[in-house]
Amino acid sequence: MARKIIIDTDPGQDDAVALLLALASPEDFDVLGIVAVAGNVSLAQNAHNALKIVELSGRTEIAVYAGCERPLRRHLVTAEHVHGDTGLNGPGLPEPKLALRPQHGVDFIIETLLAHEPGTVTLCTLGPLTNIAMALIKAPAIASRVAQIVMMGGAYFEVGNITPAAEFNIYVDPEAADVVLRSGIPIVMAPLDLTHMILTTYERLEAIDAVGNRTSRAVAQMLAFSERFDLMKYGTKGAPLHDPCVIAYLLQPDLFEGRHINVTVETASELTMGMTVADYWGITDRPKNVLFLRSGNADGFYDLLVERLARLP
Ligand code: RIB
Ligand code: CA
Repeated sequence: MARKIIIDTDPGQDDAVALLLALASPEDFDVLGIVAVAGNVSLAQNAHNALKIVELSGRTEIAVYAGCERPLRRHLVTAEHVHGDTGLNGPGLPEPKLALRPQHGVDFIIETLLAHEPGTVTLCTLGPLTNIAMALIKAPAIASRVAQIVMMGGAYFEVGNITPAAEFNIYVDPEAADVVLRSGIPIVMAPLDLTHMILTTYERLEAIDAVGNRTSRAVAQMLAFSERFDLMKYGTKGAPLHDPCVIAYLLQPDLFEGRHINVTVETASELTMGMTVADYWGITDRPKNVLFLRSGNADGFYDLLVERLARLP
């Protein structure tokens, strides 16, 4: 039985790979909709990029919505320095023929959760949590209806990537992350501690490109563009591949190891704004609100990714 999912995203090259992995797996995922959020670049650009990716996948029946244009409280911080001015630099993808659905993405999330049996819809979040928090604020009753949230965000032992203390998705909207982390919804977190093990080495990018279809060639071009910033920054043999870990977890959870712990987000101090404080050693009696994925099998991840990309046009 295919799992019903909503994907909330700020494409970004790594978001694009996550979307393609999900769209390549119709027997595993019934993608109810894709909702764009402001993050890597502006909302409008992220939504535009999501349409391009849906068209690239050939799954043109999938609905794309635009959600919130800015975080709950803070000014929007974007990441063109990583993803390029369009947020999807690398391949020259054609302008989309598809249009966004007119409904606001937050209302789509609420309506969809209320229309489906409780516990049957999973939220996959690949960007800042603004849309999810807004949905929870506008319609608190949805909290008990979400099966689980599988999110890319946060960090603990790996510390921050946009500041010394914070990971980008959380840093952009720490108040939204706080609403989600306190919601009581079962959460699986794919933090930098995990994604920094899932590196886009030369050999892995070659294997993706060698699949030879238009989608895989575009993915190889996307990642060749987005990895350059991290290669310079970390000096490693490859760059972390963040967002597809969310989808890969749902496809093959045994690729990953995690621990149920408390994760709480800093929303007051400017120095540590957006830091996810993970009680990894159970020092406090704070509720264990998150399955914190600390590590993963990178070779198994890339084998899965290549196998699924080969199914696309
Ligand atoms: O910190 C990594 C996260 O920030 C990823 O989701 C990437 O797409 C950016 O949104
Ligand atoms: Ca993202």
